[in-house]
Amino acid sequence: MSNKRRVLITGAAGRIGSAVTDRLSEQWNVVATDVAGTKYQDLDVTDTEACRAALAGVDSVVHLAAVPNADAEWKDLLPANVLGVHSVASAAIASGVRRLVLASSLQAVSAYPDDFQVRPSDPPRPANLYGATKAWAEAIGSWVTSVSPIEVVAMRIGYFAEKPPTGPDVTPRDRAAWLSFGDCAELVRASVEGPVTGFTVINGISANRYRKASYGEPEHALGYQPSDDAWATP
Ligand SMILES: NC(=O)c1ccc[n+]([C@@H]2O[C@H](COP(=O)([O-])OP(=O)(O)OC[C@H]3O[C@@H](n4cnc5c(N)ncnc54)[C@H](O)[C@@H]3O)[C@@H](O)[C@H]2O)c1
Repeated sequence: MSNKRRVLITGAAGRIGSAVTDRLSEQWNVVATDVAGTKYQDLDVTDTEACRAALAGVDSVVHLAAVPNADAEWKDLLPANVLGVHSVASAAIASGVRRLVLASSLQAVSAYPDDFQVRPSDPPRPANLYGATKAWAEAIGSWVTSVSPIEVVAMRIGYFAEKPPTGPDVTPRDRAAWLSFGDCAELVRASVEGPVTGFTVINGISANRYRKASYGEPEHALGYQPSDDAWATP
């Protein structure tokens, strides 16, 4: 039997899930899940009983499943982004996993002024309903650490893309939020493996020379070491 860490990923068929799952499968025993109809194990995150069964014997959960759309309507956000994060968190508590890693977003803090570099210690201040559901995910993370010994890391993910964003509609601030594929895998690795106490929020952007959000104590403590710079990547 493998003694690799067993890590369950929700939403593994998505853009981030598919970019990080293969990279992390070398070091972990990854259980990749998504809704029915993908090549991964079926797991609807709104089904608490199914989540609980799936989490048996799991070391860590990386919860990515969501509707990741800043323009989405409430009815589309409610199942995965609101009910789903509660289901996964409740199942994590019932199953006694060691760590729960939640995909939050810089959209959770998008109402701060444009000239303010958001720190991981700044509280959520969303400007759209999607960002509000990510603030909810962070609130659920705090709740989990108050009622269980589970360690929780909420990753405020920036602009995830293979290459830095370009084009007439892209602002320097979008570019300053870039998170490369490789750095995203490093972010998830550090979020699962790095030392934390209780509930921790981290910013998930690459090593951009201009950064929309700052790195602080939590990223350093976790050992997150990004290597890509949006201004040095063609
Ligand atoms: N892509 C980005 O730039 C970005 C930025 C910030 C945060 N995030 C967050 O990262 C996570 C992953 O984003 P992504 O870009 O890969 O999204 P995506 O839409 O590409 O993937 C999301 C996955 O979740 C799955 N899913 C949806 N509802 C589900 C349910 N009820 N049960 C199980 N699976 C379900 C979908 O099938 C899909 O495969 C999301 O939580 C998103 O909010 C993404």
